[in-house]
Amino acid sequence: MSASRLFELAQGQVEPGLMAQLGRHVAAVEAELARQMGSQVRLVEEVGTHTLRAGGKRLRPALVAIVAEVTGRPYDPARAARLGACLEMIHMATLIHDDVIDHADTRRGAATAAAVFGNTAAILSGDVLLAKAMSLLAHDGDLAIIRLVADMVVEMAEGEVRELETRGEFDLSANAHREIIRMKTAEFIRSCCQVGALLAGLATPEVESLGAYGYHIGMAFQIVDDLLDYEAETATLGKQTATDFREGCATYPLIFLRDHLTEAERTLAETKFGNGVTDEEICLIREWMRERGAFAETRALASDHVRLARARLEDLPDGPGRAMLGAIAEFIVQRRS
Ligand code: FPP
Ligand code: MG
Repeated sequence: MSASRLFELAQGQVEPGLMAQLGRHVAAVEAELARQMGSQVRLVEEVGTHTLRAGGKRLRPALVAIVAEVTGRPYDPARAARLGACLEMIHMATLIHDDVIDHADTRRGAATAAAVFGNTAAILSGDVLLAKAMSLLAHDGDLAIIRLVADMVVEMAEGEVRELETRGEFDLSANAHREIIRMKTAEFIRSCCQVGALLAGLATPEVESLGAYGYHIGMAFQIVDDLLDYEAETATLGKQTATDFREGCATYPLIFLRDHLTEAERTLAETKFGNGVTDEEICLIREWMRERGAFAETRALASDHVRLARARLEDLPDGPGRAMLGAIAEFIVQRRS
């Protein structure tokens, strides 16, 4: 799913003036990202450019601008583009690192940086991207935004470590899992919305409310990500599937399935969790998830978060920005890749 596809989905639902404004914003973000990939160190430039070319939804920079727009207040589009690029670079760095952690060879239909350049080059170049993002943030110089983003990065990294701590826990509780996805994904999306709100100079309660919208779509996004990890095919998803089971990460499809297994099935699944599961066994587990309602329960949970996200939009002035935020929330549960 590319940035242009995200905008296609909004066509017809969103007023052309806003679409044109967002098109300009995405172009400015892409230009800033291309500039930021330049480096005096060849390998840094190569890893960055490779990752940038793989594309992505550019959801985070889009949210910064749409939220700023939805306020109806004046904001500086150049800052929105720079901060959007900064947030996208943090995202790129985390995915480069995540693919090393998950031993993933493909993402977005292309070879991962680790697969092309090796783990060490990927980790170090990811570090450079993160450092450059922090530099962009510091040069922008807004202390409230610096604090918000820096605290979010800490929480995201801690979320990833917590996920590592719980690897191999077949019986990980739903609460513990919810907390991990809040930390590793939802807080990031919340921050993007809050940055947009702060750019437009909103007061704290409104910043919090738009942040809550971001939190809920972030939760929905990760829940659907975890669903697609089991439900989708590699060709559609552009990355390997069932990696969570192979790596021993318990996510909602497995958490819901656990209640619907016989003793013998549970023993098989538990023994193979993160422990050399075969492709045939993965097929069987996916089939159980489908027929026993674990996929449907997972999608319903994501839809609950989308509903809560949309409820947060009700207090906003009706207009194209609000419609676009609503469309983004729907796109998150409907996406298939
Ligand atoms: C994707 O999860 C990964 C994240 C949401 C967070 C990754 C965070 C880190 C690696 C630590 C922090 C790193 C930096 C540079 C600050 P996933 O594996 O469930 O999703 P996937 O299916 O897209 O791989
Ligand atoms: Mg991963």
